[in-house]
Amino acid sequence: MKIEDYVLSIPDFPEPGIVFRDVTSILQDADGLHLAVDLMQEKLEGIDFDLVVGPESRGFIFGVPIAYNMHKPFIPVRKEGKLPRETVSVEYELEYGTGVLEIHKDAIKPGQRVVIIDDLMATGGTNQAIINLVESLGATVVKTVFLMELKGLKGRDKLVGYDVESIIAYE
Ligand code: PRP
Ligand code: ADE
Repeated sequence: MKIEDYVLSIPDFPEPGIVFRDVTSILQDADGLHLAVDLMQEKLEGIDFDLVVGPESRGFIFGVPIAYNMHKPFIPVRKEGKLPRETVSVEYELEYGTGVLEIHKDAIKPGQRVVIIDDLMATGGTNQAIINLVESLGATVVKTVFLMELKGLKGRDKLVGYDVESIIAYE
């Protein structure tokens, strides 16, 4: 089965007009989970990087196994008020809502090379916010890998100049 075949698309969730691309339908199949992690990880072959950053909560699902497999640290980006030590934070916009993302200040050192992993790019706002956090700590984002990309929302327009790849693209 191809990776696309594992994804269920749910109309009008969580709001009317949104077609929700449900990552859990991949995860609940052992072959789907393996395929998704392997295809995303392949995009990092030959890339020189120090650590993986992934956003709460679906970014954790793929960020951790990829970091583990490649023997790199995993740094969580979390929604406001969840991280216990000193953080830097940024406001951002989503396909349906706005929010604040935070990262531990001591988790990334100036000059480090960062890969961002997430399940899905919609408006690109989350990725742009993570890039802001990483760069505010003096590090560089060398690549982002998404499992899914919603092309119609033009997230790449926010990420011009950055190396962004996805495995499945929806028009
Ligand atoms: C989803 C998804 C991405 C983000 C994409 O996460 O997992 O991180 O939205 O949207 P964007 O490109 O418009 O920023 P969400 O914030 O819904 O949180 P969740 O993973 O906890 O469900
Ligand atoms: N996150 C933001 N938009 C989404 C969508 N349409 N499907 C799944 N996750 C999303």
